[in-house]
Amino acid sequence: MIILGIETSCDETAVAILKRQDNRVQILSNIVATSLELQSKFGGVFPEQAAREQLRYIIPTLDEALAQAFPDTEASNRPKKINAIAITQGPGLIGSLLIGVETAKTLSLVWQKPLIPINHLIAHFYANWTNDQTPQFPALGLLVSGGHTDLVLFKDHYSYEYLGGTRDDAAGECFDKCARLLGLPYPGGPQISLRAKTGNPKAYRLPKPMYSTSDFDMSFSGLKTAVVNLVSELTQTGPLTDQQIDDLSASIEHTICQLLTHKTILALQKYPVSNLMVAGGVAANSTLRRMLEHEVNKFDPTIQIFIPPTKLCTDNGVSTASAGFFTPPLDNPLDLQADPNLSLMN
Ligand code: KG4
Ligand code: ZN
Repeated sequence: MIILGIETSCDETAVAILKRQDNRVQILSNIVATSLELQSKFGGVFPEQAAREQLRYIIPTLDEALAQAFPDTEASNRPKKINAIAITQGPGLIGSLLIGVETAKTLSLVWQKPLIPINHLIAHFYANWTNDQTPQFPALGLLVSGGHTDLVLFKDHYSYEYLGGTRDDAAGECFDKCARLLGLPYPGGPQISLRAKTGNPKAYRLPKPMYSTSDFDMSFSGLKTAVVNLVSELTQTGPLTDQQIDDLSASIEHTICQLLTHKTILALQKYPVSNLMVAGGVAANSTLRRMLEHEVNKFDPTIQIFIPPTKLCTDNGVSTASAGFFTPPLDNPLDLQADPNLSLMN
């Protein structure tokens, strides 16, 4: 079984081709075109511009993914090697999603291939299915991306219970907004992470909203507000020094990671599972990886933790195609509608 996965939910145009044989998933190609440079220039993602970039990149990215997966096959014969197409249906930016969805519908019709609709949030978790070892159910899932921060209990493929999540900003959004306050470029997560390496995580005491509630909900907007106030206080006598930026970065990163780790352990205490899956852009954060590994191991060393390789944490087509192996195709591909509000609760 060979699946071509297309992901265009935000500012990445991503296409990957995966082969599944004897329960092993092999990545034949993984192409990601990103308009990150543009977003960095403007300090964030501008929806209309992101959609225009999707349109610019979609066909070249498809072409490159096919060429890399099947280098010895003539270009016109490459689509024949594909068994199905998996496509991100949502959530995301409507303009960006539409480019991928309409392209996938057209390809499905022209190539005569089944079309598999994928929830992008679920897809993030399926980046964990591309190694030799794959998660076993029941498993706890922690999704930490730019738009979402959720704890989910997976009983089986596509059988899951939403446990809780952020009530306001997502963890990635908090990284991005705080980075902006420190004058660091977009996306802020990797920048804060870099500066944190030479900073003191205990230099500034930041609030941990909802840390002591017994539910699985989280909140990050109060943390951002505290950083606004702190920066305005520190800059009264002049711009932030390099050391202050490093220390603030380390303190912000440490606080976000503590919040995420604490709620994850709380969920593991209530729901005894032997596997934890982490996913989403913030899962690339090395402090979060270390803290989770340390605390989970302390809580129960038999729990196996799955975190995708760094480049599969952020948006990519591999996760989409990987989820496609476990998702039924549509009866009528032309019925598919992009859904910017798709969530883990429906
Ligand atoms: O999953 P993703 O690529 O896009 C969404 O679907 O939202 O996540 C992007 C988010 C951004 O907020 C970015 O700052 C964050 O992931 N991120 C990180 C790191 N790498 C990416 N945050 C913290 N540390 C990182 N190393
Ligand atoms: Zn994503």
